[in-house]
Amino acid sequence: MKVLGRDGSLPEGDAKHDAVEGMFDRLAPRYDRMNRIISLGMDRGWRRRTVDALATVGGGVVLDLACGTGDLCRDLAARGYAPVGVDFSAGMLAAAQVDTPLMRGDGAALPIASASLDGVMCGFALRNFVYLDAVFGECARVLRVGGRFAALDATVPTNRLLRAGNAVWFRGAVPLLGRVVGRDAEAYRYLPKSTAYLPPVVELAERLRVAGFAAVRHATLTGGSVLLLSGTRA
Ligand SMILES: C[S@@+](CC[C@H](N)C(=O)[O-])C[C@H]1O[C@@H](n2cnc3c(N)ncnc32)[C@H](O)[C@@H]1O
Repeated sequence: MKVLGRDGSLPEGDAKHDAVEGMFDRLAPRYDRMNRIISLGMDRGWRRRTVDALATVGGGVVLDLACGTGDLCRDLAARGYAPVGVDFSAGMLAAAQVDTPLMRGDGAALPIASASLDGVMCGFALRNFVYLDAVFGECARVLRVGGRFAALDATVPTNRLLRAGNAVWFRGAVPLLGRVVGRDAEAYRYLPKSTAYLPPVVELAERLRVAGFAAVRHATLTGGSVLLLSGTRA
């Protein structure tokens, strides 16, 4: 199943759910390698910064929501947390090489008991969710009061010069690399386009607040090309 329409349009609703799941199933064997390449190795630092945003929890059980192949699970375990991963792509879960318990499930209906977690992290998946408010609601449900939420995702720099550089890389070079190394040019055309799903960061922060979070903070990294959103379960 194609993830983009004939005219390059992004899918919506159930069509998005199925297309995104199928796309990650296909990408899974080459996903980690492509990630390092297209982020120029910087994704490791971005993930560490996201784990830093959980620091007030001081250990505990942390969900890696939309864990994919489990990169964040590894970072969490290395910092003394007990991670669990959930993702809806069977292909991504099968490609994960981690000791962490992993479950197949949807972010909008988590297979996890209420108030049972100390933290929820989410890497590069917010823009892939169909029902973002339902996902934020589920994050609030599974966290204990005082538990922490931290998510990072790709975004577009507001500075014109940096935005132009970002476009050259993500809309020019990345689809080409996706064709040659990732063997799926369409998926790597979807990647830069999919930032359009994310609302402006102020709205995103407000929606996290409405879901039941306080102390909501947002920051950008690497010239505004990555967004870090965090909050505390109220
Ligand atoms: C760009 S990958 C990120 C994987 C991993 N978090 C990382 O940092 O490398 C996005 C992941 O979100 C997952 N995903 C998208 N929508 C989902 C949903 N509704 N429920 C669960 N997982 C979802 C995909 O299967 C995919 O593994």
